[in-house]
Amino acid sequence: MNKKSPLSRSGRFTSGPGEDVAKFTESISFDRRLWRHDLLGSIAHATMLGNIGVLSKAESKRIVKVLEAIGVDIEEGRFEWNESLEDVHMNIEAELTRREPAGAKLHTGRSRNDQVALDMRMWLRDEMVELEVEISSLQRSLVELGVKNDKVILPGYTHLQRAQPVYFAHHLLAYVEMFARDHERLLDAFSRVNVCPLGSGALAGSTLPLDRKQVAEFLGFEDSKGRPVISQNSMDAVSDRDFAVEFCFIASMTGVHLSRLAEDLILWSSSEFDYIRISDEYTTGSSLMPQKKNPDIAEIARGKSGRLIGNLVSLLTLLKGLPMAYNRDLQEDKERLFDSVDTIRTTVRLMSSMLSNISVKVKSCEDAACDPGLLATDLADYLVNRKVAFREAHHIVGALVALAEKLKKPLNLLTLKDMQSVSKKFKDDALEVFNLKKALDKRTITGSPSSKEVKKQLRFWSKRLS
Ligand code: ARG
Repeated sequence: MNKKSPLSRSGRFTSGPGEDVAKFTESISFDRRLWRHDLLGSIAHATMLGNIGVLSKAESKRIVKVLEAIGVDIEEGRFEWNESLEDVHMNIEAELTRREPAGAKLHTGRSRNDQVALDMRMWLRDEMVELEVEISSLQRSLVELGVKNDKVILPGYTHLQRAQPVYFAHHLLAYVEMFARDHERLLDAFSRVNVCPLGSGALAGSTLPLDRKQVAEFLGFEDSKGRPVISQNSMDAVSDRDFAVEFCFIASMTGVHLSRLAEDLILWSSSEFDYIRISDEYTTGSSLMPQKKNPDIAEIARGKSGRLIGNLVSLLTLLKGLPMAYNRDLQEDKERLFDSVDTIRTTVRLMSSMLSNISVKVKSCEDAACDPGLLATDLADYLVNRKVAFREAHHIVGALVALAEKLKKPLNLLTLKDMQSVSKKFKDDALEVFNLKKALDKRTITGSPSSKEVKKQLRFWSKRLS
């Protein structure tokens, strides 16, 4: 550090770090994005110091005014960041003190340890609110695609083998539910991010009569009843980053949900499935094969989940061996957190707009859904309704499937005689089971894909998300 800097470590050090050491330790290259919150935190702190008489009212006012002016300069790109001043906190404080000598009093009762924890919590709060909005609009895109195609039926799969028919909208609504839980997790985590650590000092609070609640109120750290929320243990407040880990988990979980959705879209857009068409802007060609149209956006979205999980694991690993309280290792939290915030936000946004640019190939879906094998379970249920034990019914229908294969006939084209050769329980209404729409409409219990239930869910989500 520049020895002449107003923030020089003064008496204790005789020389500053070498250039390589400065490069290794600096965080200004990435933590400058906290500037707005750093200024706000300092304005709150200066105001409070003025109110409790540690600063004079005039000093406090002058500091606030200069901090605001610095904000304008940063906003307009006029501020010069100085790497030798290490981080965003020191850059701003040095400039403040250069412009206003009383700035040297701003750091009273404060450490960069509680300052950085404060900045990150404030920054993350804002980002979480933005992400919530993006997740809701992603859900809206899914619901709109479902509403537009509410009559389309397609096979549902297990083990990637055709299993039972479902409405296309039911499949999409499964993701709406997943993203609803991600949204809920965000709301819940918000209350743990929204705690004011300022006043924790380096690790052991302060001897000065700081009014922590006043600062918390000023910065909007309030619970649902409007009461200020402040941390209760100074060592915890400066050294834990569980709030960042929690966010990175939520981003990972949302990323994994997006990755599964992306995988479905990739499969559906392949010639093998051919259920959807993704519009050209969301696909790319091949540099070699002229016929190719690749779902790159969905693939990248699927790939991003790996990165989000990596960030989560990085943060957990970063924290696991740290002795109490603050350690400089914690500086490594920022890039991982920032990256998770940026990655999840762009991925949610891109996936949402891609969903609005998908058309469903109704005929292909219909053809696939008409596979009578999808209703083999319904045929077993038919026997159950005729008092056959399910295990036996399963066995009988299995034998019928084998017979159909042997006769090279689809299941629904077996004659009553064929069927009765396997079980006398089959009557002439047995083949009615293969009416696809009716079969779906029998699934009336909550959570099942009858058209009535699916439409109810579409209405519920349309209203909830509007
Ligand atoms: N740049 C540091 C960080 O991100 C700020 C806190 C520095 N504190 C210290 N005692 N060196 O964690």
